Amino acid sequence: MNVRGELVTLRAMGPDDASALWRWNHDPAVVRWMNAGYPQTEDRVRTWLTERPRNDYGDVLFGIEVTTGGQLIGLVRLHGAEAETGCAELDIYLGEQDHWGKGYGTDVMRTVCRYGFDHMRLHRITLTVVTENLAAHHVYRKVGFVDEGRLRQSFRRDGRWYDKFVMGLLADELR
Ligand SMILES: CC(C)(COP(=O)(O)OP(=O)(O)OC[C@H]1O[C@@H](n2cnc3c(N)ncnc32)[C@H](O)[C@@H]1OP(=O)(O)O)[C@@H](O)C(=O)NCCC(=O)NCCS
Repeated sequence: MNVRGELVTLRAMGPDDASALWRWNHDPAVVRWMNAGYPQTEDRVRTWLTERPRNDYGDVLFGIEVTTGGQLIGLVRLHGAEAETGCAELDIYLGEQDHWGKGYGTDVMRTVCRYGFDHMRLHRITLTVVTENLAAHHVYRKVGFVDEGRLRQSFRRDGRWYDKFVMGLLADELR
């Protein structure tokens, strides 16, 4: 079943999303503060979306749609969940730049974290963010994530090292 927020709907992804995903992954502004991996063809991205295992507790990948109109604007992923600890990790990005700064990212974070805590019964969600990624850091803090540590020189871009914050959110801290 799809997961509804105030502005967005989170839904499963499939091969039809390959061209959008390929475009986002090759947009320097989108991947500026992310580990984008190595270049892939659009066909390879389609194969990955076709063959990846179905969503389950250990790895849930959602496409982010604007509820009004249904445009796909990004993705969010909860992965590495462990039943013994109730801990999982979160990644998010909005690939459509013209949708930045309009409240979608905040709504996605609240929606996916609520899903993790209520539906998956997680206790804790962890993420990392490059310290210079001010908008993302602001959004994470706004919804309740706390800075828990600093991974020194853990991100490299254009010949420079950057630090990352490790951030955590407990089930009763979501705002
Ligand atoms: C980070 C991201 C998910 C945020 O989503 P978004 O829809 O743009 O965020 P929102 O519109 O909900 O909120 C943006 C907030 O950041 C603030 N902000 C924007 N630029 C900022 C800056 N340079 N410094 C501090 N805050 C900033 C805005 O004022 C707004 O806060 P407010 O609602 O309290 O006024 C999205 O921009 C994105 O995907 N960026 C590219 C990929 C990326 O960096 N992903 C995260 C990797 S860890």
